[in-house]
Amino acid sequence: MRTNLNGRPPQTMAPASPENFRQYLKAKKSVDDRSLNHWVYHKLTEGLAARGESDPLRIIEIGCGLGGMLERLWDRRLASRAAYTAFDRDPDLIAEAGLRLQEFAQHRGLTILESGGAVRLAGDGQNWLITLRTEEFSAFCQQQARKTVWDLVLAHAFLDLVDLAAALPGLFSLLAPDGLYYFTLNFDGLTIIDPPLDPHLDDTIFQLYHQSMDERQDGAGGHSRTGRRLLSALRRSGSHILAAGSSDWVVWPTPSGTYPGEEAYFLHSVLNIIDQTLAGHPELDHDRFQVWLARRREQVDSGELIFLAHQVDVCGLRP
Ligand SMILES: C[S@@+](CC[C@H](N)C(=O)[O-])C[C@H]1O[C@@H](n2cnc3c(N)ncnc32)[C@H](O)[C@@H]1O
Repeated sequence: MRTNLNGRPPQTMAPASPENFRQYLKAKKSVDDRSLNHWVYHKLTEGLAARGESDPLRIIEIGCGLGGMLERLWDRRLASRAAYTAFDRDPDLIAEAGLRLQEFAQHRGLTILESGGAVRLAGDGQNWLITLRTEEFSAFCQQQARKTVWDLVLAHAFLDLVDLAAALPGLFSLLAPDGLYYFTLNFDGLTIIDPPLDPHLDDTIFQLYHQSMDERQDGAGGHSRTGRRLLSALRRSGSHILAAGSSDWVVWPTPSGTYPGEEAYFLHSVLNIIDQTLAGHPELDHDRFQVWLARRREQVDSGELIFLAHQVDVCGLRP
């Protein structure tokens, strides 16, 4: 569902602005936390342990947004010592990720110190040197050309935005020969919103929405069935997949008709993306589509709407 939120804000409910996108990334963090596949994460930690923990563990994350994955992996104690480089092509997101890191440290009583363009985060038996950078993925891979190698490469909610065939060699080129990858929340072609309104219209909307992911006009690539395509591409590459499993987004209301955290905002964002993507589509009746959107938004406001999106996590060893 995130394809058209590739750095672009949703259009309705709130003015289209980068602020919407930042708010969306914040709101989706609790949904992602729940969705990540525990088995795949467990196998990743086993894989890291089997190769002997590097000191520090050198981690690179592509398309990090506001740094949600970094926070999560700190909280999960992925490594006691790490050198974590995270980049995104959007400089505003990187700036905000830096601010969030300060708040993160403050909330947890951690020490945070500037250290030559990076920050050192320490406490709770962990010590990480964190570098946040504004970089474009392809340019970064070319410019690196094996100057630096990392032990672990991460791409979270990113690979369904790009051309896999072109992206995988770049990702692998960043890794040490025995390095691992952890690619998470790769969308895989199924969106469900319940309760149904008009089953035929529901199906048409999701089908056209998925189709739009496969026909993006910005040249970046991306696909609505990235999850399964990723598994095949990894196998073809000769990589040893250590684990793969689903990481579906599932959002539902509490008995009192509210959503946890900022998940109502998340749901509105999803509807806004569908609105933005399909507005004016020749195969959709404009009025029926607007009624559908209005009714779906009411369902969020009244705490009735249930949302699912099928996604895949995978971890493994560099080919
Ligand atoms: C769906 S968001 C996910 C952000 C973050 N991983 C998260 O889940 O919160 C995708 C991110 O990838 C970034 N991005 C997209 N294409 C990129 C590229 N070619 N190079 C670097 N970053 C890119 C976008 O700016 C955006 O922040």
